Amino acid sequence: MTAPDAPPHVAVRRVSKRYGPLTVLDRVDLTVDRGELVTLLGPSGCGKTTLLRLVAGLATPEEGTIAIAGRDVTRVPPHRRNVGVVFQSYALFPHLTVAGNVAFGLSVRGRRRDEIDRAVARTLSLVRLEHLGARRVSALSGGQQQRVALARALAVEPEVLLFDEALSALDRNLREEMQVELRRLLREIGATAIFVTHDQDEALTMSDRIAVMNGGRIEQLADPKTLYERPATLFTLGFVGQSTRLRGTVAAAGDGMVAVDTPVGRVAAMGQFLAGSSVVVATRPEHLRVVADTVGHEGSDRARNSVDGRIRAVIFQGSRSRIEVAAGDQVLLAEAPGRIASALNPGDAARLVWPVAETFAYPDPEARA
Ligand SMILES: Nc1ncnc2c1ncn2[C@@H]1O[C@H](COP(=O)(O)OP(=O)(O)OP(=O)(O)O)[C@@H](O)[C@H]1O
Ligand SMILES: [Mg+2]
Repeated sequence: MTAPDAPPHVAVRRVSKRYGPLTVLDRVDLTVDRGELVTLLGPSGCGKTTLLRLVAGLATPEEGTIAIAGRDVTRVPPHRRNVGVVFQSYALFPHLTVAGNVAFGLSVRGRRRDEIDRAVARTLSLVRLEHLGARRVSALSGGQQQRVALARALAVEPEVLLFDEALSALDRNLREEMQVELRRLLREIGATAIFVTHDQDEALTMSDRIAVMNGGRIEQLADPKTLYERPATLFTLGFVGQSTRLRGTVAAAGDGMVAVDTPVGRVAAMGQFLAGSSVVVATRPEHLRVVADTVGHEGSDRARNSVDGRIRAVIFQGSRSRIEVAAGDQVLLAEAPGRIASALNPGDAARLVWPVAETFAYPDPEARA
């Protein structure tokens, strides 16, 4: 969508933000291409809203620069940035109607009446509120107010849109519907978007790329598939999706692989460490296959890991079930389609088998060097 030599639409370079002694953003770099949707994902307080406020111009960084379409806007006021924001708190005008709120940005820009009416009708229908245009916003539910805020930001068709938990008040069905519709509309108007959510599924569904944030820094920035399948750090692995994690010590290393002694026996994993290193080996539940027959244990080999244990719980989750297998004092997480899981019972002996290629070793953050 963007020519290879085109500058990024939004470029955040080495930006730091402090409040008193607290460093809320620590030398953050983030570039977003024209038409791209990048999601900021991370625990409460990691700096997501602060980063959006800096891009919108509602706060100024102590260090670093922000450029939009190649222009340095670090000190340009919000109304001269062509950036739309949907805030975490909706910040609607309570004395105006739904349609009045949505029309507001267009009116202050002096757009023609018929143009305003068309934009209001279009965005209200997008958020499924076409029937409530004349209602005062103070007489709406939280989810309805959130959708008015969304429509208000979209109506002016800014080049850059920032969404802070913009769908969080909606029930699951409406939310999933809006994710698809919103993504389609953003593509249609060619808008560049930075999206903040706590919902991993939403991030994986909507984003071209995801930035996982941790304590004011971007821990990993990658497309959803890479982020999920090849998390660069233990933090990203733990924050996106589920996993089994086992602590251990590297017994042997070579060829980008390690053999690790863990509490459940030797486990092979991808990674480069010296023998004797303290590591954590991790795998996603969908790679662990549960084998009910535990006769003839050959142990782990170069291609696959194998651990014997006992089924602790089978948790029904609709189309699939999560299976917890206890081995010694460790619990390993597997996943299976309902039809396979229904044959498994707590207390049964079970063997877990999984590919070494899907097992990754990370430095143990709690180990003393
Ligand atoms: N105006 C302010 N003055 C002082 N501290 C602030 C201010 N705004 C934010 N902070 C602090 O900065 C940190 C980051 O806040 P921010 O709102 O960016 O987090 P967040 O990632 O959006 O979290 P959440 O997911 O809970 O919305 C927090 O520790 C917060 O208390
Ligand atoms: Mg926030």
